[in-house]
Amino acid sequence: MDQKNPIIVANWKMYKTDLDAKVYLQEFFELLPKTSARVLIAPPFTTIRDVVKSRQYIEVGAQNVHEESVGAFTGEISAMMLRSISASFVICGHSERRRLFNDTEERVHLKLKQILLNGLLPILCVGETVSEREAGQTEKVLTRQIESALFRLRPSNLILAYEPVWAIGTGKTATPEMAADVHGFCRDLLKKLWGDVKVPILYGGSVTPETATALAAKPEIDGALVGGASLDAAKFVQIIKGFTS
Ligand code: PGA
Repeated sequence: MDQKNPIIVANWKMYKTDLDAKVYLQEFFELLPKTSARVLIAPPFTTIRDVVKSRQYIEVGAQNVHEESVGAFTGEISAMMLRSISASFVICGHSERRRLFNDTEERVHLKLKQILLNGLLPILCVGETVSEREAGQTEKVLTRQIESALFRLRPSNLILAYEPVWAIGTGKTATPEMAADVHGFCRDLLKKLWGDVKVPILYGGSVTPETATALAAKPEIDGALVGGASLDAAKFVQIIKGFTS
């Protein structure tokens, strides 16, 4: 990891009204007036604009986007709309989207294309299920997910997040060694695909203030994608400090 500039992303999922977000940010900026970390927050769509307005050094983005640019898609949000409210990144391929909302590999690829077309930064999430890990399929699954998402694309700006499905919201974190192994594998794969490009690789899955420091100590881990623990400003600040101290 670039010890001085880790990337720490908060994924608020379907939590926090705009009022909750205001209270949170006030506490957050009081506790962490500045940091060398690159801090990104992905609030729900309804709160993005408010978080953008209040931002100091944070980047604000979305948790999802539709794969078409425009059209009769009731209830959906396009990448252009996100850009128009100054969102700067989009999480794509999160396992909850893949599992609960039919975000197939084809759709993840199309979403990634939309994100790039609109000049936004994609955070591509990949990860294996527990049965895939037990069957020794982790590398095969990650190869498929990465190659299909990036098919014929070569973004100049991309963040990869390794999020083992069995570690998300379960309290089971991959050990730093397990995460580092997989990160090394993903880095080699990207090198094979694109040569020497710099793609930061984050770890996600039950990251807490207690696990942050050990994860941060691994040079292969460039930062974290944090769900549950990012909902509490104090805990999120501790995680950022764990990665920067
Ligand atoms: P978690 O979620 O930290 O609650 O496990 C991580 C994620 O879903 O990105």
